[in-house]
Amino acid sequence: MKFNTKTIHGGQHHDPATGAVMPPVYQTSTFVQTSPGQPLNPDYEYSRAANPTRSALENALASIENGTRGLAFSSGLAATDCLLRSFKSGDEIIAMDDLYGGTYRMFTRIYKDSGIKFHFVDMNNIEKFKSLINENTKLVWVETPTNPLMKLADIQEIAKITKNKKILFAVDNTFATPYLQKPLDLGADIVMHSATKYLGGHSDVVMGALITNDDAIFDKLYFILNSCGANPGPMDCFLVMRGIKTLHLRMERHCSNGRKIAEYLKTHPKIEKVYWPGFTDHPNHLIAKKQMKDFGGMISIVLKGASLEDTFKIASSFKVFSLAESLGGVESLINHPATMTHASIPKAERDKAGVVENLLRLSVGVEDVEDLLEDLKQALS
Ligand SMILES: Cc1ncc(COP(=O)(O)O)c(C=O)c1O
Repeated sequence: MKFNTKTIHGGQHHDPATGAVMPPVYQTSTFVQTSPGQPLNPDYEYSRAANPTRSALENALASIENGTRGLAFSSGLAATDCLLRSFKSGDEIIAMDDLYGGTYRMFTRIYKDSGIKFHFVDMNNIEKFKSLINENTKLVWVETPTNPLMKLADIQEIAKITKNKKILFAVDNTFATPYLQKPLDLGADIVMHSATKYLGGHSDVVMGALITNDDAIFDKLYFILNSCGANPGPMDCFLVMRGIKTLHLRMERHCSNGRKIAEYLKTHPKIEKVYWPGFTDHPNHLIAKKQMKDFGGMISIVLKGASLEDTFKIASSFKVFSLAESLGGVESLINHPATMTHASIPKAERDKAGVVENLLRLSVGVEDVEDLLEDLKQALS
């Protein structure tokens, strides 16, 4: 199947009990057994371990990422945490130096006393990255494009190095989605998603996912998921699965609206900088062209000479865009990373990375682009 067909049918079958075209929401915590240890259906005993609505979603996730196995979690961070739990004291992890604030907080604070050592590096500096690898290096973690500065990492280039050294390589594919980029095809071992974002697509659910094409990795991660219990509920799984069915249609519009808005902002007198990988002068444009089908609907802007007060005023002046955390839904959102999504990163580190106080992040939705442009015009004026 091609991608657009996979979003609708990939890994799916009609409900065997009723023929229902959409998988029913199996809102049950447990499943009957005919005698002890003999469940009526051998696949289902207890919903932390497995639930048919979740299985349907996990099959869909594996299919759209060209993986063999998928796992669904109660949030994106729960998915990341599951992966981190598979490492032990003395292991080392190399991560990209521009990450979603919550991921960074988990790495630097929750796992601070775990004995796992984290290195943060600019993944475009391949020599520096290589110099950090040693015999304890067990995982390379990248987000591409990054939240919020839209930096990219060359997945194929990094995979060549990790494969050679037998290091696991995981990619947070939340911003790109498999519509734009397929990390497993490019050599990564694990794909992670905040399914809260584009996969769900309607800002009505918080969920996460891990996808792999390696059975041994899957078994390890599934054991942790079942043992630690970060599983999502069946209704949430249903919602993400419904979202995935229109992923390709939504992404097409996110990309075309994103392009028009990025171009409008680039020449706006009140904008100092626009971060969007579709511009030929974006430092990672060639990587974007190589590994992404299009450039997405995520854009960050720096307001020219704006104080924090000016920035807040503009962020609060939108009528169509909503000022809110999160991204990837059908509706356009605006976010102030320094005080919202990335507030958990210390100010000095935020400033060093470029997450300055006059930076705003736009998640361009699928509305009529003329209305979005008009809204930007009035808010900026
Ligand atoms: C790139 C990225 N990764 C991971 C996460 C965490 O996902 P969740 O909020 O579903 O836990 C987010 C959330 O904003 C994100 O933007």
